[in-house]
Amino acid sequence: MIDIKINNDKLISLVEKKYYGQALEALLKINKAQLRKQELRVRSSIKFIKGILWELLGNFPKALNKYDSIIQMQPNNSIALQYYTQLLSKMGNIPGSKIYFKKLFQLNPEIKNPFLSKRNYLGFRDRTYDLRSLQFSMLDSNNNQEICIFLLGLINFSMLNIRKSIFFFKNLTESNLYVKIFRLIGQYFVYYNTKIIDEIIKIKLNNKNPLEFKLNNLIELLKTNNFTSKLRMFKYIPQIPAFLKKLLKSIPGWLDLCEGNLLYQLSKTIKNKKHNLKYIVEVGAFYGRSSICIAQGLKDRGGNDTLLSIDPHLGIPYYHHQPTIKQFLENIHKARVKEKIRVCRGTSEEWSSKISEEISMLFIDGDHTYEMVKKDLTLWEDKIMHNGLVAYHDAILDGPFRAINEIINSGKYEYLLNVGCIALFQKKNPENYDKMDILTIFNLILLILYRKFYLDFLRQDETSMKNKIIELIKLNSN
Ligand SMILES: C[S@@+](CC[C@H](N)C(=O)[O-])C[C@H]1O[C@@H](n2cnc3c(N)ncnc32)[C@H](O)[C@@H]1O
Repeated sequence: MIDIKINNDKLISLVEKKYYGQALEALLKINKAQLRKQELRVRSSIKFIKGILWELLGNFPKALNKYDSIIQMQPNNSIALQYYTQLLSKMGNIPGSKIYFKKLFQLNPEIKNPFLSKRNYLGFRDRTYDLRSLQFSMLDSNNNQEICIFLLGLINFSMLNIRKSIFFFKNLTESNLYVKIFRLIGQYFVYYNTKIIDEIIKIKLNNKNPLEFKLNNLIELLKTNNFTSKLRMFKYIPQIPAFLKKLLKSIPGWLDLCEGNLLYQLSKTIKNKKHNLKYIVEVGAFYGRSSICIAQGLKDRGGNDTLLSIDPHLGIPYYHHQPTIKQFLENIHKARVKEKIRVCRGTSEEWSSKISEEISMLFIDGDHTYEMVKKDLTLWEDKIMHNGLVAYHDAILDGPFRAINEIINSGKYEYLLNVGCIALFQKKNPENYDKMDILTIFNLILLILYRKFYLDFLRQDETSMKNKIIELIKLNSN
């Protein structure tokens, strides 16, 4: 029984009412000597509950400490390892998280399948790694092959390996309508055959939830679009220099390699007809992953263009408490791109009023709340040149996703593509403001589908954590 001094029902009711602080306080009162007398299972689950409660309250170091002490007692406790790993990743320690993740694999070969194991922490951060582990899982007949094939299709699609992804989707024996949408849009991107649009228009999801409602509306919009404008698919070519790839792996951050590749390619090829100085602006630099990719692109292109890298460098509340400036400066020095970067310590708001030059691209990866993502565009929008670009990182997350829906509704931007979790937009000519183009519709459909499938892995939401606590309390009451 968990109930040494406190009543289980009371604890469950506190958790259900989301009074996490009070629940934690009650547990912290448990006498340590009394607890030591309990069997291991009870001790570890009390630690577990405390860990989850600390996590819900935003004190990640304390939560980490609790999960760690369970691992010390039970090195093979895969749930504790999973929570520990996930939290490390949430706090930005991706390399550390990967080491534990490997250990987790060794202990539980069956959890290699990310769908079955709810591997929601690394799932979309390192796609090349995921592809490798999925291909490996395919060889193992105990794994759920259909799920592996689906994931291989999904991840390849999000890296714009469209032909490969169509191949996987075609090989799914139990296909559903979402997969069909992916496959058809992919085929359209590859073959530009307008007959494919007729196939997409026929799809009707059953409209039970808001997601399906939104997708149906978008599919409906395809009927009214006259598709006169030619589809200008951006050709994404992974071309980042090998030495940079290696360096990037050693820098903590959330930017996936395919996203870094895109930033590199864009800054290397971005058009700048007039030869006056142009800036690329990045909001949110952290330890410099994106800054290095952009600056290297500018360096390889030649010319005077510079990256304005804006960040207060004070750390990120809840995730990462240390200042990042020292390591950031070291990293851009190691990458030999320092001369291409103007380091701007401070917020996007502070710097937007100091800059009057035109900018060719705005990369938004700062504060991810809806209000701030929206504000980041408002602050810089007027400075973005004709045909200039706006890229959002973490486009599938709630804040950026809401802001992206608004930029689409404004009619002022064309939605060019999704690579990884970057959504890329281009400023339109004013005469085209009221025309919703086919590329924008397709990319929004794809973003909604990525949100659906990736967030299932990524999100350890409050409800599921709450349920985990209740499950643990009940387990101990038996
Ligand atoms: C997700 S990290 C950026 C990651 C980085 N782009 C990379 O590739 O590794 C978010 C960063 O945004 C910064 N930040 C938060 N609010 C900001 C603001 N208003 N203006 C500029 N930077 C901000 C934080 O200090 C943090 O370093």
